[in-house]
Amino acid sequence: MSTEKKQGFSTQQIHAGYNPKEHNNAIQVPIYQTAAFDITSPERAEKIIHFEEIAYLYTRVGNPTNAVLEARVAELDGAAAAVSLASGQAAVSYAILNAGEGGRVIAAAKIYGGTYDGYRKAYPNLGVQIDLLHNVNDLDEIKSLIKPDTRAIYIESISNPTIDIANIEAIAQVAHENGLPLIVDNTLATPYLFNPLKHGADVVVYSATKALSGHGAIIGGLILESGKFNWLGGRHPHFEEEIFTFGNRNVVETFSQFPFTGRVRTNYLALLGASLSPFNAFQILQGIETLNLRVKQESESALKIAQWLEKQPKVSKVNYAALPSSPSYALAEKYFPKGVGGLLSFDHSGTQEEIYLFINSLTLFSYHANLGDNRSLVINSPKTTHHELTPEELIEAGINPGTIRISIGLEEVEDLIADLKQAFETSNK
Ligand SMILES: Cc1ncc(COP(=O)(O)O)c(C=O)c1O
Repeated sequence: MSTEKKQGFSTQQIHAGYNPKEHNNAIQVPIYQTAAFDITSPERAEKIIHFEEIAYLYTRVGNPTNAVLEARVAELDGAAAAVSLASGQAAVSYAILNAGEGGRVIAAAKIYGGTYDGYRKAYPNLGVQIDLLHNVNDLDEIKSLIKPDTRAIYIESISNPTIDIANIEAIAQVAHENGLPLIVDNTLATPYLFNPLKHGADVVVYSATKALSGHGAIIGGLILESGKFNWLGGRHPHFEEEIFTFGNRNVVETFSQFPFTGRVRTNYLALLGASLSPFNAFQILQGIETLNLRVKQESESALKIAQWLEKQPKVSKVNYAALPSSPSYALAEKYFPKGVGGLLSFDHSGTQEEIYLFINSLTLFSYHANLGDNRSLVINSPKTTHHELTPEELIEAGINPGTIRISIGLEEVEDLIADLKQAFETSNK
């Protein structure tokens, strides 16, 4: 057993996955701004192409700057490996497709709108049928949805925008009893607040556009894996196929420590091509250096704002799992001792006109569709992030006509409350 003490989160977020000695002693991670890498000889090319030697070939499939990002986030989350992608949506889609190929995925209905839209418009057309899971924490509902060709369960650890917390350990147990991997979108939590793999999840998805990078400057995503799930248990025939380029080995034999992300890289990143630019990887790395400080302050401010919102006459409901009034409060206490992050939503009980006036009256909150940014953001979810959903689907996703989502940044919390207060006063006239 190793006696080496594991470094703390704030040390890892600055140092993990990077050794300056391997990069000309550069203190900052260099941006390898190159499309391709010199293969040096045809003999070496053969080895690389057949995975006998692991080397950089072409930035679509791998790049040293991206590799530092992948190693760093993997370390922060306790993952065996990670693969970086051009967007969070690419990470969501590639994870669902890579797990579900030729079969079905049980997927949470209360989820980010883009993912929900993918359930209907993208994944079935690409060969993965979605079985909607109405209540992620209803284990009987999960069991009732499992069919012979079910390949995975897909959920968010904290749902966007309703801030419900998934009971990951219980869901993972049901998944594993049935030979299924549990895939968790952990975007809202970030590895600082929650590590799904340590609670039984098998694959984790991030939009790095959000709090991971934190500065609202880039689009990016990641998929991580525990490396522990048995993909040869019978439910994933696509992991059993022998592949010529792997020397007639299957993907599990080729990438024994990281079969899932290995397959994402070879079958999705290489072929569908949603590669993260090394420049954006660098930006995400910069953001991660301060992840704990940002998310801690945002969680503290969000709680104060949620408590304040609960007292406002025009607010009929506040969705924030750290509030005792939340149905997720007990799960938040169990899984999220450091807070539940900077995102919350509330139902404005006024007319559509009052809601628009409220949003238009805000001066400090900017009105746009991102979240996890250092600046505070507001959006009316049913008309924007979830606008593609039918009225029935909106109810399914836990979104009402008056649902307003706010993402709390790093401004003084008193200034944010003052802004909300004056917007309520103006719109209530
Ligand atoms: C929970 C969640 N997952 C995935 C995505 C998609 O990420 P991206 O916008 O980086 O493609 C989002 C975007 O809002 C999100 O909120």
